Amino acid sequence: MENFDPYYPVEFIKTGIPGFDRLCGGGIPLGSQVLLYGMPGAGKTLFCMELLYRNAKFGIPSVFISTEERKEDLIRNSLEVFSSFEDLDRFFQDKIINVEYLRGIDAIKSREEFEETLSKMGQIIKSNKAKIVVLDSVSNLRSRFRNDRTYTRAVAYISEFGRSLNITGIATLEMLGKESSQKLGGLYTTSMFDGIVDLNLKDIGGEYQYVINIPKFRRTEHSTVTAPYMITSKGFDILVEGKGKPQQH
Ligand SMILES: Nc1ncnc2c1ncn2[C@@H]1O[C@H](COP(=O)(O)OP(=O)(O)O)[C@@H](O)[C@H]1O
Ligand SMILES: [Mg+2]
Repeated sequence: MENFDPYYPVEFIKTGIPGFDRLCGGGIPLGSQVLLYGMPGAGKTLFCMELLYRNAKFGIPSVFISTEERKEDLIRNSLEVFSSFEDLDRFFQDKIINVEYLRGIDAIKSREEFEETLSKMGQIIKSNKAKIVVLDSVSNLRSRFRNDRTYTRAVAYISEFGRSLNITGIATLEMLGKESSQKLGGLYTTSMFDGIVDLNLKDIGGEYQYVINIPKFRRTEHSTVTAPYMITSKGFDILVEGKGKPQQH
């Protein structure tokens, strides 16, 4: 399966979020297919948006495919939350961050329609020369498949599609309760992803706080620490304890 040379130096996509790059052992290995899961409101959409923004600042083009929010709403909300991100609006306008609303993913009726939808995504990704692609989310695809196994196969197909396009892909998934890591949000397995990032709520000294954790990431010496985080107008503030300076771009 894994066709990389373990001795070849790994290149990273820096998220530019200091705490996350530290947790992740330097960043996201280039070409990874990542699953970002968490409950509604945990910050999945905004985390992806910040990652694309930080990379856009280095001229790296990306596509944000939303199956949930309309393009205008997504853009307006991102600008509102990340009010101190200079240039974010310009990146949207210049399509360095190309936001696409994929209408009707939850109305796909046949395998042909599913493949047509993917091929449409592929065209957008190629014409944008995108290096990073976010698919937010794969959750509403579940209803189009008979059971968890067929749904899992479809998500694996999407992940393989990302690999074939040579992009770093991030798919988000909604989690509604406590689920075993072997079966998340209707996925029978998550083995098709190189990395898994978990955004969750945790009771810390009687107070609920959002925490981030990386249970799995291939090709990088990631931390398994569970770190509290906040979403601010300057982006994600992840509190990683311990030694080492936050990584700067
Ligand atoms: N326009 C906004 N103003 C202030 N806070 C916001 C705004 N939009 C989102 N947030 C905050 O950011 C959190 C994460 O939002 P989001 O990334 O959309 O979550 P998810 O995609 O995981 O459902 C929300 O729970 C909310 O607290
Ligand atoms: Mg969201």
